Amino acid sequence: MSAQAPACQLLERQKDNYAALWAIGPPVDSWLIDQSTGVVSGDFDALREWQAKGKQARTPFDLAAGEPFGKEIVLFWPKAHQLGIWWLKWLCEQLPEGTAIEIVGEHQGGIKRVPKMLDELGMPWDKRDNARRCSLFATRTVTLDSSSDSAWQTFETLGLILLSHPGVFGHGKVDEGTLLLLESLESSLPKKPLKVLDMGCGDGIISAWLAQRGHHVTAVDVSAFAVEACKRTLAANGLEGRVFSSDVFSALEGEQFDWIVSNPPFHKERDISYGPSQRLISAAPEHLNVGGRLILVANGFLPYPDHLQRAFQDFQTLADNRRFKVYGAIKSGR
Ligand SMILES: C[S@@+](CC[C@H](N)C(=O)[O-])C[C@H]1O[C@@H](n2cnc3c(N)ncnc32)[C@H](O)[C@@H]1O
Repeated sequence: MSAQAPACQLLERQKDNYAALWAIGPPVDSWLIDQSTGVVSGDFDALREWQAKGKQARTPFDLAAGEPFGKEIVLFWPKAHQLGIWWLKWLCEQLPEGTAIEIVGEHQGGIKRVPKMLDELGMPWDKRDNARRCSLFATRTVTLDSSSDSAWQTFETLGLILLSHPGVFGHGKVDEGTLLLLESLESSLPKKPLKVLDMGCGDGIISAWLAQRGHHVTAVDVSAFAVEACKRTLAANGLEGRVFSSDVFSALEGEQFDWIVSNPPFHKERDISYGPSQRLISAAPEHLNVGGRLILVANGFLPYPDHLQRAFQDFQTLADNRRFKVYGAIKSGR
């Protein structure tokens, strides 16, 4: 099996250097999984792929501060530059000073900015290789002045305190679609507490907004950074809710809700991907009580009406501001 992702193809040229590689924030690539001892990632999809092949898989939030996890470290530079800086700071805190780290990434993903940023952090660097429109750099951990925790941002909106992290959807601002969704919910929300699922919770704005109105919230996301952000948002507002990782409904087998509310994802990195939103819509009836509702917001151009019609046989457009539409569908008793 050869590497498929361009950054992994570049690493494959160096494979004799790796005996016990730990991949940090990598793409899912079969060659890399076979080659590596473990992975640290915020993406539960990736963690599952490593686990399925018997490899070690951790999120950065389940490693205790300073807990060692590996020696041959390769950081895959993420699209969100601030998230890359967070990973570097986290590695400097987690690993002994002077530990060798390699950083690999695609030119179109911003890897060429890495040397300047390493200079700013006071980390030494050396260019190792360059091919497949990717570059590979080597550096070493140092003791830094600022901590990785400084990447958390707090902002206020709709009477709520929100905590956000680089790489979490909309980092530091509220999405226009989410605002339209919440506006349209305000008038139709029953006073009696509902059991609500926030699918793809991001920083937890929908969960916190619903919990503030007395509803019992379960929030899930495929991103460990989003799960952590949502937990911190609920805590910052003195609100309660269950928050955990799930690939759509994977961790919710047999559970049913009165309402499922979502601003569903339609991107995976740079690519459009309807996979999760389609799975959300088609499996939603199984996870709703009779009379329960799926309410979601989407860019007007997305093909959700067809999916809703197929899954529920009917749906309504609850709001439309030309850019975004809010759809509602009810599970019938038939
Ligand atoms: C458009 S954002 C909405 C975030 C937040 N609810 C808001 O309104 O600001 C979609 C969220 O879905 C999450 N997501 C992507 N794929 C997922 C999947 N397969 N299962 C669960 N959540 C997923 C993303 O990490 C992201 O936080």
